[in-house]
Amino acid sequence: MTMTVDDWNPRSWASKPIKQEVVYDNPEGVQTALEKLQKLPPLVTTQEIANLKKSLKNVALGKAFVLQGGDCAELFDYCNQDMIEAKVKLLLQMSLVLIWGANMPVVRIARIAGQFAKPRSSPMEVINGVEMPSFRGDNINGFDATPDSRRPDPSRLVSAYFHSAATLNYLRASLSSGLADLHSPLDWGLGHVITPSIKEKYERIVTRVKDALRFMQTVGIDTDRGVETVEVYTSHEGLLLEYETSLTRLLRDPLAPGETLTPTHPLKTSHTTTTTSSPPKSYYATSSHFLWIGDRTRQLTGAHVEFFRGITNPIGIKIGPSMTPEDLITLLDTVNPTYEIGKVTLISRYGASKISAHLPAHIAAVQSTRHIPVWQCDPMHGNTQATPTGVKTRHFADILSELKQALEIHRAAGSFLGGMHLELTGEAVTECVGGAGGLTEEGLGERYTTFCDPRLNEKQALELAFLVAGFYREMEGEEGVNAI
Ligand code: PEP
Ligand code: CO
Repeated sequence: MTMTVDDWNPRSWASKPIKQEVVYDNPEGVQTALEKLQKLPPLVTTQEIANLKKSLKNVALGKAFVLQGGDCAELFDYCNQDMIEAKVKLLLQMSLVLIWGANMPVVRIARIAGQFAKPRSSPMEVINGVEMPSFRGDNINGFDATPDSRRPDPSRLVSAYFHSAATLNYLRASLSSGLADLHSPLDWGLGHVITPSIKEKYERIVTRVKDALRFMQTVGIDTDRGVETVEVYTSHEGLLLEYETSLTRLLRDPLAPGETLTPTHPLKTSHTTTTTSSPPKSYYATSSHFLWIGDRTRQLTGAHVEFFRGITNPIGIKIGPSMTPEDLITLLDTVNPTYEIGKVTLISRYGASKISAHLPAHIAAVQSTRHIPVWQCDPMHGNTQATPTGVKTRHFADILSELKQALEIHRAAGSFLGGMHLELTGEAVTECVGGAGGLTEEGLGERYTTFCDPRLNEKQALELAFLVAGFYREMEGEEGVNAI
């Protein structure tokens, strides 16, 4: 029997089998935290969610590109001015390069303001001979290696909300104060670690953007707010369903442009032509604009898929080598029975050596249906490996190779690779090997600060953006990235 959305409610997932469950030893504490969350205001609005959905529809149709990136695991400590600014500036710089490369608008989604919870391969680990729960993310337990700090603490759920709110507040305030003003992209400050050649290429793109803006000003079309700021949307893995449910609200759908409500006051009349008397309402996850289901929690009959099929937000689904083409179709039918274009972003993450064995069949499966998803390549999670001394890392060459193969496979299949999903940070960390800076395995220890997966640093991330931009330009038969 297939369930319909009518059978759904924000807690219907609770009767399904759940993976990565968190077991607390004080149920009253959980109840108190959830009751508090239920009373707090949404972190994002339905209008913003609708705007993102519209942009992702354009991506699905091949008219825009989506850049999603940020930390693997965000910590409460990352909620500070410098780290938020560094991450946002990096995403803005990369998006500028991609706009130039793909010659289309770029939708920016940060893994920020809520990317706390992490799926783990084992719930327990042994550190210095002591067995204790694994670190599951700042909204669940503490990183410190003591059984006490690792105990799941429900008050962290409420703390997660306030850290998300503070991060989002600063993000919004910075953007509305001109952080993303395209008239001054050089103010986005390239770090001192950027190599001269990348710096030069970047500055040349900036000069071109400035020339274009000057021209628009001269001919009088630079009057919109458009170039003074850009949208940056938030996202995280929707792993902690109790948290997500508490922030899922039945809200009025935003009105379409030109649409107004029929006034409730009988003496007032509407001056607009399109009216609607009973505004429809839907369930929105209001913790973030975009949520995704991880590769470990996407079981067809499991709790996470059940929760996700009822929310109106655009959603992502990670797909790795264990996904069968048949299950992929059933999953799309389940979460998107009305075939909304761009509602679902398929985030493929196979690994550079496995993508060619899996992606073609996944694309063919989707093409045999009416589904038009966004296809996004996550070249990080299938390329994680350990050095001989046991340090978790990723090779820049593997990341680039998976991206390049994804582009070519989509193109050969008549499909559109609409975006990339990266783990990156604006800090000068040493977590991934390679790139123009030539970071070696021996150099990893210098500034290895991730609490989960290895991230691209500023230099590697910007270099990757240039290389991907170059692929697009070369595919269009235009000048390559070296010709900038
Ligand atoms: C992640 O995005 O950090 C993650 C855990 O990914 P995946 O579900 O693809 O393994
Ligand atoms: Co990760």
